[in-house]
Amino acid sequence: MAATPRIDILTLFPDLVEPFLDGALVGAARRKGLLDIRVTDIRDFSTDRHRSVDDAPYGGGDGMVLKCEPVVAAVEEVAGGDAQVLAMSPRGRPLDQARVVELSGAKQIVLLCGRYAGFDERILQETGAEEVSIGDYVLSGGELAALAVTEAVARLVPGVLGNPESPVRDSFSSPKGSAPARAGILEHPVYTRPPVFRGRAVPEVLLSGNHAEIERYRRAEALRITRDRRPDLLENADLGAESDPE
Ligand SMILES: C[S@@+](CC[C@H](N)C(=O)[O-])C[C@H]1O[C@@H](n2cnc3c(N)ncnc32)[C@H](O)[C@@H]1O
Repeated sequence: MAATPRIDILTLFPDLVEPFLDGALVGAARRKGLLDIRVTDIRDFSTDRHRSVDDAPYGGGDGMVLKCEPVVAAVEEVAGGDAQVLAMSPRGRPLDQARVVELSGAKQIVLLCGRYAGFDERILQETGAEEVSIGDYVLSGGELAALAVTEAVARLVPGVLGNPESPVRDSFSSPKGSAPARAGILEHPVYTRPPVFRGRAVPEVLLSGNHAEIERYRRAEALRITRDRRPDLLENADLGAESDPE
């Protein structure tokens, strides 16, 4: 990703997202000019005197539905021609690392946070938004989902993480140079000092200094954990040149 990537978060609750965007990793990256993240209050685009953004659902039912006019106007105000517009939604395609890698190549990402009973369907049609879910559970709003997308994309932007190798080694990440659409496997266990904690010793091989042995051990452990916990990942995994050592 060459230019500073721009991420726009459109929300009814800017105060929920701003502290996160100012803190730790993302805040530091913004201050260094590595990320251009903007927050827009959807309510600023309401046109009636009550500043309303929601209304009762046609056909009856619980909750209020986000109205077309303010949400579409907010998207049209911030989104450039190349923007990828994503609507946070439990109905959406579950976010995975392959999609995060693709998004990290986008010039601009617009993240739409829903609330209440969700978006009037025509908002999605009119903006061409792709619905994205962060898991099979229901939150009260899209803010946490938008922040999850933001942080996952941010850590792939060169310079944001101290060590550029870190994201390549993480769970779900493909080995360097392979196609982003190929899934990675889960990470091996990691340890730090002390060598023995309450009788639990760090595996001998990690103290051996033998880098080839350490790599072989880590690879075998990563495959074992993935097979135990997420065998589905192995079906589409890019296992690189090495084969399963077992
Ligand atoms: C209470 S939810 C609406 C749920 C909607 N009525 C449904 O059943 O699909 C309000 C908003 O929270 C956000 N949200 C809730 N769960 C989410 C999830 N798992 N992933 C992404 N966004 C979510 C969406 O923006 C959604 O519009």
